[in-house]
Amino acid sequence: MITQQRFKKSVIALLLTIYLLILAGALVRVTGSGMGCPDWPRCFEQFVPPTSESQLRPDYIEYYSQKTGHEIAPFNLYHTYTEYVNRLIAVFTGLIAIGMLVFSFSYKNENKKMIYFSIMVLLAIGFEGWLGKKVVSSNLKEFVVSLHMLVSLIIVFMLTYLAVASQAFKSIEVKPLPLLRNLSLVLVVLTAIQILFGTQVRENLDSIAKRIDDRSLWFNHIEISFYIHRTFSWVLLLASFYLYFKSKQIQPAIFNASKYLLITTLLQIITGVFMYYFAVPKAAQATHLLIGCISFGLLCFINIQLNPKVKEVIASS
Ligand code: HEM
Repeated sequence: MITQQRFKKSVIALLLTIYLLILAGALVRVTGSGMGCPDWPRCFEQFVPPTSESQLRPDYIEYYSQKTGHEIAPFNLYHTYTEYVNRLIAVFTGLIAIGMLVFSFSYKNENKKMIYFSIMVLLAIGFEGWLGKKVVSSNLKEFVVSLHMLVSLIIVFMLTYLAVASQAFKSIEVKPLPLLRNLSLVLVVLTAIQILFGTQVRENLDSIAKRIDDRSLWFNHIEISFYIHRTFSWVLLLASFYLYFKSKQIQPAIFNASKYLLITTLLQIITGVFMYYFAVPKAAQATHLLIGCISFGLLCFINIQLNPKVKEVIASS
């Protein structure tokens, strides 16, 4: 029983750490710190990176350029430590995931799904670590960065399932309402598609940024994916409004979650519009990404709570 409590705590801790990692990853990207550590998993071949250029070998630029196969920028303390903190959070995340897997064995007699899902979460986090290496070795290839983000959404989904099924989040008695369940499922899929369009817009802006320094000119060169992404947000907003009003008729926790979803969708649109009119501020980029992932997590929560099969798992445990 004590270990089951520990399992529930580790699921919540892991979910929060994953969001912290998503934010850290977004900050690494918008500050251009991705290459702050040229190698992986160590940074400048050290466990704690240097604090000044003088601590590196004199020919470090040629050395690491040759070693990695792409050009290395001069040492930048701020970039190196932004990337390093991101990696530390990643290691911390991996350790919590291992702890969660150990604690999941407390369910071995009642609900083996907890163990299987915990294994999948750990494997997905390991895969993310490997993709992280690819992000560095591919010199931040846009496609790899997008894949890296999509895997983190899958992790959010699996952890939300574990949190609901283990009752780490309070289980809610929900009337069987297929309309709401289906609507929330449609919204999960639509939000994932919207995030996919978001990754296209980001890939597009990243390639424009390589050619044009002046951020206020970036939208003059933007491709069609941006206009699809922008217009599609109206569909999501309308669907979230509908879910909000409909869920008023059922349990308060679903209503609360759909209220938060409506707020995050509105914030998403506001930060998107802000990027468009105010020359893509870095803070708005990172906030926009984080809020998109929070919306996705809220939708997973709503959908899983409305799924009778998860309730059966809870009842049988
Ligand atoms: C509910 C609606 C929305 C969702 C869920 C959403 C989600 C996302 C996500 C997750 C990303 C980041 C992808 C990545 O970094 O890989 C993104 C990027 C982007 N989105 Fe949205 N978005 C929404 C609405 C909007 C709106 C209304 C606008 C503009 C008016 C907008 C403009 C952008 C831009 C410019 C980027 C690229 C930002 C960058 O380079 O960091 N988005 N979107």
